[in-house]
Amino acid sequence: MGPLPFAVLISGRGSNMLALERATRDGRIDGRIVSVVSDRANAAGLDAARELGLETAVLEHRPGMDRAEHGRRLSAILERSGAQLVALAGYMRILDVDFVRKWQRRLLNIHPSLLPAYRGLHTHRRVLEAGEGHHGCTVHFVVEELDAGPAVIQGRLTVRPGEDEERLSARVQRLEHIIYPRAVGWFAAGRLAWRGGDVVLDGQVRVPDLVEEDA
Ligand code: GRF
Repeated sequence: MGPLPFAVLISGRGSNMLALERATRDGRIDGRIVSVVSDRANAAGLDAARELGLETAVLEHRPGMDRAEHGRRLSAILERSGAQLVALAGYMRILDVDFVRKWQRRLLNIHPSLLPAYRGLHTHRRVLEAGEGHHGCTVHFVVEELDAGPAVIQGRLTVRPGEDEERLSARVQRLEHIIYPRAVGWFAAGRLAWRGGDVVLDGQVRVPDLVEEDA
């Protein structure tokens, strides 16, 4: 079969993309990144990807480009790259319905909350404001509805008294960098699939796997 060709979509720093890349080099993921695509030409993660010698592409939003057009162009880039899995890693555009349908079951996302709690943006702030005891991150398959797809693995931590948004988000990111490579590694090894309505790992229907901080 050979290493799984996959693409990573970013808009910013790309620290999850870098975590995935590291995992392809140290053997945790039997795959290779064939394209890093950003909707922002100035995304810091693009420079980091280029420095690593990865193929990059920029798909900026232009006046008059609607969501469907963006989705078609993105699909064309991904098809040309030969990607068989697409990992969203901080990609800040809502994806077109046809795009999601086309890549469904081959489309993963990392979200900074314990889904189904706290879909959407500013999760760390909202978690602190609500006085939650726990927080974390989730890797899930992507469906048309935002942040609503079936979860694969979650990272969980205890919110510390007096903790601010910056510190909390840094702790969540450390967990992201553990769980995302793990999920992509499973997929690349043919161990993970979303079949029918179920997430299946090693032939078993799974509730999301859970990694505790410092575990
Ligand atoms: C991560 O926190 C991820 O959960 C969210 O966007 C952020 C991307 O960070 N979807 P990075 O660009 O991977 O550093």
